Amino acid sequence: MAKLWISSAVLVVHTVLLGSSQALWCNCTTAQCEKTGSQCETDGACMASTSFIDGQEQHIRICITRDKLVPPGQPFYCLGAEGLLNIHCCYTDFCNSIDLKVPSVTSPSGLEGGYGPGGTWGLVELVAVIAGPLFLLCLLLLVGVFLYQYHQRAYNHRQRLEVEDPSCDHLYPAKDRTLQDLIYDLSTSGSGSGLPLFVQRTVARTIVLQEIIGKGRFGEVWRGRWRGGDVAVKIFSSREERSWFREAEIYQTIMLRHENILGFIAADNKDNGTWTQLWLVSDYHEHGSLFDYLNRYSVTTEGMIKLALSAASGLAHLHMEILGTQGKPGIAHRDLKSKNILVKKNCTCAIADLGLAVRHDSATDTIDIAPNQRVGTKRYMAPEVLDETINMRHFDSFKCADIYALGLVYWEIARRCNSGGIHEEYQLPFYELVPSDPSIEEMRKVVCDQKLRPNIPNWWQSYEALRVMGKIMRECWYANGAARLTALRIKKTLSLLSIQEDIKV
Ligand SMILES: Nc1ncnc2c1ncn2[C@@H]1O[C@H](COP(=O)(O)OP(=O)(O)OP(=O)(O)O)[C@@H](O)[C@H]1O
Ligand SMILES: [Mg+2]
Repeated sequence: MAKLWISSAVLVVHTVLLGSSQALWCNCTTAQCEKTGSQCETDGACMASTSFIDGQEQHIRICITRDKLVPPGQPFYCLGAEGLLNIHCCYTDFCNSIDLKVPSVTSPSGLEGGYGPGGTWGLVELVAVIAGPLFLLCLLLLVGVFLYQYHQRAYNHRQRLEVEDPSCDHLYPAKDRTLQDLIYDLSTSGSGSGLPLFVQRTVARTIVLQEIIGKGRFGEVWRGRWRGGDVAVKIFSSREERSWFREAEIYQTIMLRHENILGFIAADNKDNGTWTQLWLVSDYHEHGSLFDYLNRYSVTTEGMIKLALSAASGLAHLHMEILGTQGKPGIAHRDLKSKNILVKKNCTCAIADLGLAVRHDSATDTIDIAPNQRVGTKRYMAPEVLDETINMRHFDSFKCADIYALGLVYWEIARRCNSGGIHEEYQLPFYELVPSDPSIEEMRKVVCDQKLRPNIPNWWQSYEALRVMGKIMRECWYANGAARLTALRIKKTLSLLSIQEDIKV
C-alpha cells in the first residue's frame, strides 16, 4: 500500500513537471527507433517492461506520450497488462535503461499478487477483487434483512388475523373486560371447552404472581392477580410436562364446566430460554382446600350438608356422560381427597386436580389413556386398587373407586360437625391405623386384610344429618365396588336431607 502511495506521489510530481512540456529522452527497443539510435523523445514518460515471448525473456523499452498518461498518477500504460510481467515508468532521461527482474512466481495468466504501477494487477481487477466480495456481502445482508422483515410481517399478520378474526372478536380480552366477563362469554359461546388458546396465553402472560399458597407433588401453587382479580396459578416443573398437559386437556373437556368443579382459566407453556415454565391458571379460592378448611374450622349441620352435597354434585357431573354433539364423556377422578377439593367463598366445594383423571369413550367402551394400576394417594385408595383386583377394562370400576374416596372425605367433614355442642378434632382417615405417609402394603393390610374402615361413632345416630352421613359412608365403603352408591344417588339423598333440614343450598 505504501508503495502505491509513493509511486502515485512521484507520478503526480512528474505530471506537474510535464505540464511545462519538457522533452524527455528514453531508451527504445522498437523497430522504429533503430533509425534514431534506439532512442526516442517524448513529452510523457519512459517505460521499461519485461515479457516472455516464445518462452524467451524480452526487455522492452519505449516512450509514452503525455496524452497517454491517463489517468493522472496511475496511467494505464504504466500498469501491468497480460504478457508484460513487470512494468516501470519513469520521468528522467534514459531512466528506462534498467533491466527489470522477472517476478519469481508467475501465474499462467501473468497475474501476480502486487499493486500499483510496479504490480501486475490492473485497476479494474483490483477494484473487482476488493469490491466483488464486498458487493456479495452486501447482497447477502440485504437478502437476510429482507427475509427477516418478510418473516416478521407474516408473523404480525398472522397474529392480527387471530386477534381480529371477527368470529373471535368477542373473546379477545379487551382492556376493560374482567375474567368473569370472559368466562361468561365462554359459557354462552357454546364451545363449552375453554377459552381460545391465544386468549389463554394472553391472560397467562399478563398475570402478576403475588405469593406462594401451596406445594404439591407436581410443583407450586401461587396466588396471582389479573385485572384486579385473584387467580390461582399451578406451576409445574418442566419434568412434569406430561402431567401439566394431561390436566389442561381434562379441564378442557367439552361441557365440563360446573359450579362444583374448579373453574379452569388457562394453560400456558412459557419458554424463558433456560427452561419451560408450565402454568395452569384457575379460579382462586381463598379458603384453600377442604383439608385446610376443616383443620381451621368446625362446621354447622348446614355447613356439613352444603359441603357434602356440593362435593357430590361436582363428582356426579364429572362421572356423568352427556350424550349429543355438545356431550361430555364420563370422567373418573382417581385422586379424590380433601386436599384436592377446594372450598369456595359460599362454603361449597369445587373438585380440583384432574391430572390423573380418565375419560370414557362409550361408543367403543374404552378409556382415553392406558390406565396404570395404582395411581392417586395411597391413604384414599379403594380396596380393589390396593390389592390390584380392580377391573381396569370396565370404566365404572374407576367411578366406584372415587366413591370409596368420597366416603372418606365425608368422614373428615362429619367429624368436624358441631351437633349438640360436640365436634371432634380434624383427623385424616385411618390416622390411628397407619403412619403419616403409609405404604401400599400398610394400607392393604388395614383396608383389605383387616377390612377396617374409619369409625362411625354411635352418637351420630342421634342426629339426623349425621345419621344420614354415616349411612352414606358405609355404603361408599363396601369391599365390592359395584355395591357402592353412585354419586348421583348420594346427591339425591343429600338434596332430600337439605330440604328436611330446611337448608338453602
Ligand atoms: N385454586 C386454588 N385456590 C386456592 N388455593 C389453592 C388452589 N389450588 C391449590 N390450592 C392450594 O395449594 C395447595 C397445593 O395444591 P396441590 O394440588 O399442588 O397439592 P396438594 O393437593 O396439596 O397435593 P397433591 O400434589 O397430592 O395433589 C392446596 O392444598 C391448596 O391449599
Ligand atoms: Mg392437589
